[in-house]
Amino acid sequence: MRVLNVGVIGAGRIGRVHAENLAYRVRQAKVVAIADVFPEAAQKLATDLQVAAVYSDPQKLLADRQIDAVAICSSTDTHARLMEDAARAGKHIFCEKPIALDLVKIDEALAAVARAGVKLQIGFNRRFDPSFKRVREIVAAGGVGVPHILRITSRDPAPPPIAYVKVSGGIFVDMTIHDFDMARYLMGCEVEEVYAAGNVLVDPEIGDAGDIDTAVITLRFANGALGVIDNSRKAVYGYDQRVEVFGSAGMALVTNKTPDSVVQSDDVAVHSTKPLHFFVERYAEAYVAEMQEFVQAVLEDKAPPVTGMDGRIPVVMGYAAWKSYREHRPVKLTEISA
Ligand SMILES: NC(=O)c1ccc[n+]([C@@H]2O[C@H](COP(=O)([O-])OP(=O)(O)OC[C@H]3O[C@@H](n4cnc5c(N)ncnc54)[C@H](O)[C@@H]3O)[C@@H](O)[C@H]2O)c1
Repeated sequence: MRVLNVGVIGAGRIGRVHAENLAYRVRQAKVVAIADVFPEAAQKLATDLQVAAVYSDPQKLLADRQIDAVAICSSTDTHARLMEDAARAGKHIFCEKPIALDLVKIDEALAAVARAGVKLQIGFNRRFDPSFKRVREIVAAGGVGVPHILRITSRDPAPPPIAYVKVSGGIFVDMTIHDFDMARYLMGCEVEEVYAAGNVLVDPEIGDAGDIDTAVITLRFANGALGVIDNSRKAVYGYDQRVEVFGSAGMALVTNKTPDSVVQSDDVAVHSTKPLHFFVERYAEAYVAEMQEFVQAVLEDKAPPVTGMDGRIPVVMGYAAWKSYREHRPVKLTEISA
């Protein structure tokens, strides 16, 4: 059995998730090196996973000849540059979302990948969630008839630190980006126009940082279907991730995932458990599946399931949403250019 040697760049929250999955749950992969500009983070993860090669300079990892592929899990502002460097070094690339906050940088990075002929997959993990995947299959098979309305509720349990908010590009490109990807994926159709409303209702510091924490975005798809996404940075009951596709012949619905399915009834109320806390728990299976598919795509020389264009389009949607929010009007995606 051939094994893919992977180097993980960025040993933070998501880097650990991917490194652990590659080390323990993806049979045809091996983590052979870890790099982080914060050496203690790289060393801790490497020690935990018994990985020998540890670098504080990601360029050294890219020069490591035993490495076939890299997982770019560092901060958003580093992705595009690392993607270009990895492509030049001939490494296949799994890259976390977003590719970059700047469309010119995204295009340059994608061009470098195309020139090098390496495989690229973007980390839109929700596509690999078994329930969302099944909705996609139902919709594609005509199970809801002609899709008319998509509803996505996506609310975090708590806002990220203000330092993260300041460099995140704002809610539409940091958080809603996953919902924009879900919209395209579930409906199998491109979005032509977005109309976004937003406010600061959770934490005034988020407003001071130039961002918003609460948003409702309506979508108009190329086939005439409509969509609505609602986001909050703080749902007191946990990570709220629901999806519904309604059409001429029915409806497909995904409700929240809970750690157990017990319903307790007493003389006051009927109680059940809160949703799984956050993305690491809610999408645990999805993170494994996306890595499995990336590794298979490389080993079997197949096209990865989430392409560079799939990475670019939701960033365009995010910028259209910002423009719509600021100008109080529907904005067509064609109004956003590099
Ligand atoms: N798909 C998802 O579900 C998901 C979830 C969380 C984060 N993300 C994305 O993953 C990225 C990382 O997020 P996080 O929450 O893990 O952040 P984090 O801050 O926890 O970790 C980032 C790590 O990258 C390191 N780093 C920064 N610059 C580097 C460089 N040039 N080379 C090597 N390492 C570098 C930092 O020292 C840090 O340890 C972000 O782009 C974020 O949008 C995706």
